[in-house]
Amino acid sequence: MRKGILALTMTGMLAVTGLAACAEDTTDPAATKTPKIGVILPDSKSSARWETADRKYLEAAFKAAGVKYDIQNAQGDKTQFQSIADQMITGGVTVLVIVNLDSGTGKAVLDKAKAQGIPTIDYDRLTLGGGAEYYVSFDNVAVGRLQGEGLVKCLTDKGVKNPAIAQLNGSPTDNNATLFKQGGVSVLQPKYDAKEYTLAADQAVPDWDNAQGGVIFQQMLTKANGKIDGVLAANDGLGNAAISVLKTNKLNGKVPVTGQDATAQGLQNILAGDQCMTVYKAVKKEADATAELAIALAKGEKKQVSQTTKDSESGKDVPSVLLEPQAIYLENVKDVVSDGYVTKEELCTADFAAKCTAAGIS
Ligand code: BGC
Repeated sequence: MRKGILALTMTGMLAVTGLAACAEDTTDPAATKTPKIGVILPDSKSSARWETADRKYLEAAFKAAGVKYDIQNAQGDKTQFQSIADQMITGGVTVLVIVNLDSGTGKAVLDKAKAQGIPTIDYDRLTLGGGAEYYVSFDNVAVGRLQGEGLVKCLTDKGVKNPAIAQLNGSPTDNNATLFKQGGVSVLQPKYDAKEYTLAADQAVPDWDNAQGGVIFQQMLTKANGKIDGVLAANDGLGNAAISVLKTNKLNGKVPVTGQDATAQGLQNILAGDQCMTVYKAVKKEADATAELAIALAKGEKKQVSQTTKDSESGKDVPSVLLEPQAIYLENVKDVVSDGYVTKEELCTADFAAKCTAAGIS
């Protein structure tokens, strides 16, 4: 009997202590709410990666950790982006991960989340002035450098003298596009200065719109009277747009074109000899790193990371994870397949079967 009373009292005390702990923790919403991670992807057209790679790898990482999640795609629409964010915030996400469509609307969303005590992560694209807890991406200047070096290598291999270059850049509202161009130009500018190369055209493609990229490239080619010898295209989608124009002018395969993302289409263009190179970014690593940080944040923990990125607008250092990109040429297309990023089935369709075999993909 005595024992029973004691046990009861103890339980009562525990319950009270538990309650007190709960009451104290209400200042930290992450610690009291069920962890749920919201992710907003930007679109599905500017690059195949967002729906074919990022969604898949993020989903797998959240599932493996047994954490709730909600991944949505804004389909390139800034209003939609904001309403998805509102819906996720009221729907109880405890961490918000975004790939912004531009820094202005991205910052508005980050601010709203912050006002609700929801920590945020900039995934792949830094939101300038945004102040997210973390930024997870690749070394994007290195991505551009690999593209610049790739173009030089392909022009050299073809023995082209005094090439006229067209720079088909990514969206002017994407900080990554600025960094890619910076990296590419760091390789090409000394050649322009030395009059070894000529800069024939240089234009950004709004929202990375591939169709518009084709129109812009056609204008570049017309203005240059067909004399373009190399294309620094910022990603595989824009590279493919340029290749389509080159095809109608019977110039494909003669004019090296760069790319990025190692999409199945980009790799097929490499196998066909129409694209010089692409840049492979192991999105699985990017997704895994993001999931790890997001899951910790959802539990109210803040993990230490070893890198930082200077936000050029706020001047602040944003704690970062920046991964290494890899250049892909015909010789190592097989690496992307062996890494599981693109499957043999997707890449080696009937038209490419023989080329796949020749490239050592079996
Ligand atoms: C990403 C690229 C992508 C591009 C268009 C950039 O911010 O880093 O991988 O190709 O956006 O979606």
